[in-house]
Amino acid sequence: MSADALFTGLEEQFLLSRDKVAGIVDGFLNEFKVGLRTPSKGLATMIPSFVTKMPTGNETGTFLSLDLGGTNLRISAVQLLGNGRVKVLEVKHAITPELRVGTGEAFFDWIADAVEELVTIKARHLFKPEQVTGQEALFLGVCWSFPVDQTAVNRGTILRMGKGITLSETEGRDLADMLHEAFDRKGLNVKVNALLNDTVGTLVAHAYSSPRTRMAIIFATGCNASYPEKVEEITKMDASERSKYPAGTEMLLNTEIDIFGTEEYLPLTKYDKILDDSHNQPKFQLYEKMMSGAYLGELTRLVALDFIEAGILFKGQMPEGFTEAWSFPTKYMSALERDTTVHRQVSLEKILEKYHFAQPPSLEDITILTRICRIISTRSAILCSAAIAALIDQQGLIKKSDGDIIIGMNGSTYEYYPFMEERMHRALRNWFGVEISDRIRLEVAHEGGSVGGALIAMLCN
Ligand code: BGC
Repeated sequence: MSADALFTGLEEQFLLSRDKVAGIVDGFLNEFKVGLRTPSKGLATMIPSFVTKMPTGNETGTFLSLDLGGTNLRISAVQLLGNGRVKVLEVKHAITPELRVGTGEAFFDWIADAVEELVTIKARHLFKPEQVTGQEALFLGVCWSFPVDQTAVNRGTILRMGKGITLSETEGRDLADMLHEAFDRKGLNVKVNALLNDTVGTLVAHAYSSPRTRMAIIFATGCNASYPEKVEEITKMDASERSKYPAGTEMLLNTEIDIFGTEEYLPLTKYDKILDDSHNQPKFQLYEKMMSGAYLGELTRLVALDFIEAGILFKGQMPEGFTEAWSFPTKYMSALERDTTVHRQVSLEKILEKYHFAQPPSLEDITILTRICRIISTRSAILCSAAIAALIDQQGLIKKSDGDIIIGMNGSTYEYYPFMEERMHRALRNWFGVEISDRIRLEVAHEGGSVGGALIAMLCN
């Protein structure tokens, strides 16, 4: 088969027509409805955060926060300086392969050690002496980048974690309890007064500098979205619970849109299916697997395998190591798409040097591989935009006012993948037309979970 024929076939599978996008947006809107009324059992979506206040930007003080993502743990002392300004001093540790598959107890002990390191060493000067010695409690806001079924602002059941973390004796336990037990084992006087998903943290943090923010999107290793929903619409909460809030109150919701999607409305390609089958959690997070940073590289590798087998890429010779699943990380795609200089062949040989090539890749190989990356990452941009389109619709934002629609965007895939922002703007323009899409402001929410955690710890005090 010729390169052109292979690319035409690939584009047919990956390039999402308006009809396909419409199917996805409708699918999301439907899942919002179902999630809002269905009490969570096991896996949950549309999770209430119990946060009903947004910051004004004028809050001040120093607060402690914990931010656990798929790669790193950050414990921070966050100084809110007013006028939307913040200063963060943090202790950061990478999650080791052993911790990822160990016991919950070992994992939470490791967290407690990091808290101790921040409070007693690195940020000691920012706390009162009684707080450092433990005579006076310190309050902690916890930003957790994994699904938690919240039952109160400071209580929540740990659900299946994802991102390659499978802790034993953890699922089904209360997150605050597990943290408090670990703090007790270390003799730390730290109280969890707020738990939040990273996407809720990002929304609150971005609202500190941009108070009219109407949603936050995490587009990173994983993906997710949060937005304020009217409490009366969150019918999965008991009527008695809902009636505690004054009419019209909005509560931030963690959509867990990452786990949305069925084959009925997500146009899965053969590559998505191969990836899903080879994953340690098949059929879980289908949408996220099509578009977030953890998966784009593997999708590219799977497509490239077909191009090699067809004799079109690398002269049909399989580089040694290339058949190894998950060996091609998304950062290789970024590098390929970023480098448009005349030196690209040399620098790209360097990027791919972990594979052993019978003959060095030619410029044509690089061009083919880059085109595959572009097709896959463009689909990712469109898929992320479909979530935004659905959340704009869900909140009726277009009709509500004719002002800007502000979205806090956070995450490595959005921030560092070349042309991602432009591709998302294009996708939104194709969907909404110029007039409306010009009102949509994708603002980078630099302050993610750590600042959000601290703000909620403060707002909930
Ligand atoms: C997790 C979400 C998280 C998102 C972004 C997903 O894999 O399930 O809870 O918000 O990644 O970090």
